[in-house]
Amino acid sequence: MTVIRLLTVFCLLTIVNSESANQRQHATVAEVEEYIEKTKQNINPRYRLHYHVAPPVGWMNDPNGFSYYKGEYHIFYQFYPYDSVWGPMHWGHSSSPDLVNWKTLPTALVPGDVQCFSGSAVVDGDTLTLMYTAHEITDSEPYYNETQFLAYSDDGINFRNYEGNPVLPAAPNGSPDFRDPKVWRHGDFWYVVIGSKTSDERGRVLLYRSSDLKDWDFLTVIGESTGDMGYMWECPDFFELNGKHILLMSPQGINPEGDRYKNTYQTGYIIGTFNYDTYEFVQEVQFQEMDYGHDFYATQTTDLDGKRYVIAWFGMWEVPHPEEADGWAGALTLIRELSLVGDRIIMKPVESMISLREEKLLDGEFQAGEVINFEKTGEIIVEGDLENKIELLLEGREGGGKVWLKWDPDVEKVIVDRGSGDIRQVEWSPLDSKSWRIFLDASSIELFCGEGEVVFSSRVFPEGGWKLTNQSPQILNITLYKLKRSVPA
Ligand SMILES: *[C@@H]1O[C@H](CO)[C@@H](O)[C@H](O)[C@H]1NC(C)=O
Ligand SMILES: *[C@@H]1O[C@H](CO)[C@@H](O)[C@H](O)[C@H]1NC(C)=O
Repeated sequence: MTVIRLLTVFCLLTIVNSESANQRQHATVAEVEEYIEKTKQNINPRYRLHYHVAPPVGWMNDPNGFSYYKGEYHIFYQFYPYDSVWGPMHWGHSSSPDLVNWKTLPTALVPGDVQCFSGSAVVDGDTLTLMYTAHEITDSEPYYNETQFLAYSDDGINFRNYEGNPVLPAAPNGSPDFRDPKVWRHGDFWYVVIGSKTSDERGRVLLYRSSDLKDWDFLTVIGESTGDMGYMWECPDFFELNGKHILLMSPQGINPEGDRYKNTYQTGYIIGTFNYDTYEFVQEVQFQEMDYGHDFYATQTTDLDGKRYVIAWFGMWEVPHPEEADGWAGALTLIRELSLVGDRIIMKPVESMISLREEKLLDGEFQAGEVINFEKTGEIIVEGDLENKIELLLEGREGGGKVWLKWDPDVEKVIVDRGSGDIRQVEWSPLDSKSWRIFLDASSIELFCGEGEVVFSSRVFPEGGWKLTNQSPQILNITLYKLKRSVPA
């Protein structure tokens, strides 16, 4: 009796929930925006970031559609407004004149019969065209289908789906994993790379070509795991950098190996040369990780005036997201400018980050044992003697998360240690500059070593502003700036 009654209640609840979920999945942009406005007030601000793009409410993962259109940079992102955990995907949207100051625009894509998974944006004449993966739930194994859709905008704010969707209905081998199109223009054609897998579960990247973004010809498999490089390659990107070609992607299923591949999934790149006549990508330098921190995935690049910029999801799958309790989750990294030096990509914070510097809180010697407290944001430039150990502790003034940044001269490694063995580390041999540049936000740290040879991006959750302690056995030279807010509160 009790069991039956409980079951009835459970079934009713399930029906009510799935009805509202269904309404939500078919909500208009205006309805979504109304919900966001109403819900925003309930967010707990303690971990909200001051100069990183984050969702106004709800969940964010991959950056999408990174582009420059009518005088503004645009970044979109995988977005679920109704909860701070993953749900049916929308595209959130922000724009910026300078890659540093961001404003929030209305949600660009809302799901209907299909969810709006990751993709990219290109400017075609006066139109901003999005190409994205339509993820459809189906009735039979594997219960989903992925095809590629187009959407158009003439103002960079309002988007409409192309009536001839899908423009790419299936992968050449019929794999249901067929997603994350990244489009670019070369000569007279559009090209797109799409992430997929072989029938025996090896990650691969497919290359197509089109003259109008609608009719696509499959050209080749531009890269494929030979077995130890994962079962799925997500978020591919392909571009020229300092005379070489870079295949950047996010493989899933690489096993940890010493200091490497310690995150749930990886993001990295292969360097080679590409021939647009034969479509042959000759690999020259094997896969290397792009960033060595705890929270960096699903990169996307764009270029303007000869500069190549990258952004990533400042997060990771299957790890705790403490801000979930506050009504939001996930963020995007700082924009970094890329260059190729020898067999490595180096990443520097975009130049305009300097415009966020406010008062200088410290400039000079920072004694062993010395402590300085500051608010939720800071840029710290650190110089030390690399013959000796460096150890900086960053922690919450009122407790919470902490992180040690260390240099161990015996093994020549930089170490980012969140405590309890939660360590990321890598060898660093400075190209030129021997200083560190650290960006702290309310719940994040980005460490750029030297010219950007080695970068760590990790989320950390301190309570009540930051406290910096020099635990090194040496005096360090430190410059510390407070940074201004550059995203909506
Ligand atoms: C996915 O749907 C398209 C039609 O939109 C169809 O052509 C394709 O075969 C389907 N793929 C799979 C794997 O079922
Ligand atoms: C710190 O600054 C002082 C004064 O400019 C300089 O003499 C010293 O070499 C610097 N130390 C390091 C480790 O860069």
